[in-house]
Amino acid sequence: MCGIVGYAGPKPAAPLLLNGLAKLEYRGYDSAGLALLTGNHHLNIIKKAGKIGNLIAAVKAAKVPASITSGIGHTRWATHGQPTDQNAHPHMDCSGRVAVVHNGIVENYQHLKKQLQDKGHQFRSQTDSEVLAHLIEEQLKKHPWKEAVRRSLAQIQGTYSVVAVYEGEPHTLIGARSGGGALVVGWGKGETLLASDVPALLAHTRRVSYLDDNEMAVVTPTGPSFLNVLTGKPVVKKVSEIEWTAEQAEKGGYPHFMLKEIMEQPRALEDTFTSRLDPRTGSVVLEGKFWDSPFIGKFKKITLLAMGTSYYAALVGKFLLEKYLRIPVDVENASEFRYRNPILGKDTLAIVITQSGETVDTLVALREAKAKGARIATICNVMGSSATREAEGVLITRAGPEIGVASTKAFTTQLGAFWLLTLFLAGKRKTMPVSELKKKAKELSRLPQLMAGLLKQRKSLEKIAHEYAHYFNFLYIGRGIHYPIALEGALKLKEISYIHAEGYPGGEMKHGPIALIDSKMPVVAIAPKSSAVYEKMLNNMEEVKARQGRLIALVEKGDKLAAAKADAVIEIPSVSEDLSPILSVVPLQVLAYEIAKKKGREIDQPRNLAKSVTVE
Ligand code: F6R
Repeated sequence: MCGIVGYAGPKPAAPLLLNGLAKLEYRGYDSAGLALLTGNHHLNIIKKAGKIGNLIAAVKAAKVPASITSGIGHTRWATHGQPTDQNAHPHMDCSGRVAVVHNGIVENYQHLKKQLQDKGHQFRSQTDSEVLAHLIEEQLKKHPWKEAVRRSLAQIQGTYSVVAVYEGEPHTLIGARSGGGALVVGWGKGETLLASDVPALLAHTRRVSYLDDNEMAVVTPTGPSFLNVLTGKPVVKKVSEIEWTAEQAEKGGYPHFMLKEIMEQPRALEDTFTSRLDPRTGSVVLEGKFWDSPFIGKFKKITLLAMGTSYYAALVGKFLLEKYLRIPVDVENASEFRYRNPILGKDTLAIVITQSGETVDTLVALREAKAKGARIATICNVMGSSATREAEGVLITRAGPEIGVASTKAFTTQLGAFWLLTLFLAGKRKTMPVSELKKKAKELSRLPQLMAGLLKQRKSLEKIAHEYAHYFNFLYIGRGIHYPIALEGALKLKEISYIHAEGYPGGEMKHGPIALIDSKMPVVAIAPKSSAVYEKMLNNMEEVKARQGRLIALVEKGDKLAAAKADAVIEIPSVSEDLSPILSVVPLQVLAYEIAKKKGREIDQPRNLAKSVTVE
C-alpha cells in the first residue's frame, strides 16, 4: 500500500527513483510520481495515474537531466480521492517550492484544510496528504526548513510515513514516521536513501536504520541525522545490516514472483528450521533472551493476533499449541480485537503473526494487548519491522522477501514457526515426552524434501486448473487442522483469479452451504487419510457427489478409496495429521496460480490489493 523512495547523493536521481519504485510495485498502487530538484533548484513534479510505465514515459518525455541528483518518488494506493494524475503524489504547496509524499491517513485533514483555506491556501487535489505541503509552507514563513517540517508534522493526527523536499535546500530530504507505515533510512557511501520498504534499497546499501514512532530523519548525501518530532531533541539510531540480498527480490527467471515464491518453499522452510531444530534430540533453540525468561514456563493463556493468511496460520497454530501444551489459545482477527475489550492480562502471551510486520490492524492489536499487560511475541518475516521492534520475543521466519501480493512462502514458514514454538514450549514446560519431541522433530526435518517432491506435480495441477478455470464459484472444505487450509486455499483463489471461493468446515456444509451445490459448483475437499475425521470427510464428499457437485479431492498418495469419489485428484505424501497442512496448502497455491494464469490475471499485483495493509 503506497510506496516511498527518496534519494540524496551524486547519481542521477530520476532512473534511481524509478527503479526503486519498481521494486515497491508489489505493495499495490494505482498512480505514481516523482519530485525532482532541477539544476536551477526548481521543483519538477511528474506524476501519472496507472502503472509505473506511464510515469517512465512521462519522465522520458520531460528529458530530465542527469545532473539532478536528489528527489523523491511515490506509488499511491488511493484512499482519499480517485486514482488520477492530480491526486497522485508528490503534492505541492501553493508556491510550488515544497513537495511531499505520504503513506497513511491524516485523520484531522478536514479541519487543517479548512484552516489553511481560510488563510488563502489553494488545494489542487482531493487527498488528505496535500495539507502537509501547505502546513510546511505556512511554517516556512517563520522557521527554517527542518523546524518548519517538524512543526507541521506535530499538527498532524493519524498514521503516516512522509518524505518532504524543498527547493530552498535541494539536498536535504526530510522523512518522518508515526503510528503505522514504515520508513527505512539507507546508509550508502556518499549517498543516503529513504524508503518505505527494504527491497527499494537493496541495490544501493544493506546498512539501514528504521524510524520509530514520531521520529524524523534529516537526509543529506553525507548521511542522515535523527530527531524526535514532538520534542525536537536529537535521537541516536542503531544501524542494522539487512540479510536479504538484491537477487532475492528479483524474479530469477520465473514469470511471476508468486510462482518463484511457491517454488522456494522447501528452501524457506529448511532455512526456518536451520540452527533451531535438532531432530536427534528433539530440542529447539529460539534466538533472544525472552524465550529463556521465567515467563515462558509460567504463562497461562495464549492469544494469537493476525490478519488474512497470517490469521489462517494462527488457526493452525492454535491446534498445535492447545494439543501439545494444553493451554487455552484464542485466535483473534486483529482488526476486531481492540473494539471489544478483550480479556487478557499479565499471564497472557500474545503472539502477533505477520509476514510484513507492518500490518496496521495487527500492530494496533499488539499495542492493545501490551496495554492490557500481556507479554508480546511475534512470528514475523521482516527483521527490523515494527512488529519485531515492538515485541519482546521474536521468531523470524526465514522466507526471504515475499514480493507477490498473495502470501505463499510466508504462510508455510509461519506454520513451520508454529511447530518450532510448539516443540520449544513443550520441551520447556515438559508437556511432551522426549521420545515424542524427537519423533516430531524428525518428521518436521523431512518436510522440505517432501515438499520439493510435491512441487514436481505442477503439470497435473495445471491440467486441473485448465479444466476448472471457467467456473464462477468454488467451495473448499476441510475438517480439524485442515479447515484453516480450506480457508487459505479459497483465499488464494479469490485473490488472484477473482473467482468467488469460500472455505468451510466439512461439518458446516449441511447447515447451509450445501444448498449451493449443483453441477456448476466445484468443491475442493481436503481429505488426508491421516486425519482423525477422515471418515467424516468421505461422507461430506459423498454428499457433494450426490448433488452433482464437481469434486476435486486432495488425498494422500495411494488412497484409492477417497480418489475414487473425485472428478479430479491431487495427491500429497503421507505424513502425520498435524504436519500435513504444511504440505496440503502447497498444491492449493499452485492450483490458484494456474487458474489465475489461465484467466490472464495480474498475478503478482491483483486488483485492489496491497501487499502490506498500512491503513485501518
Ligand atoms: C493474502 C495475504 C494477506 C496478508 C494479510 C496480513 O495472500 O497476503 O491476507 O496475509 O494482509 O499481512 P501480514 O502477514 O504482512 O501482516
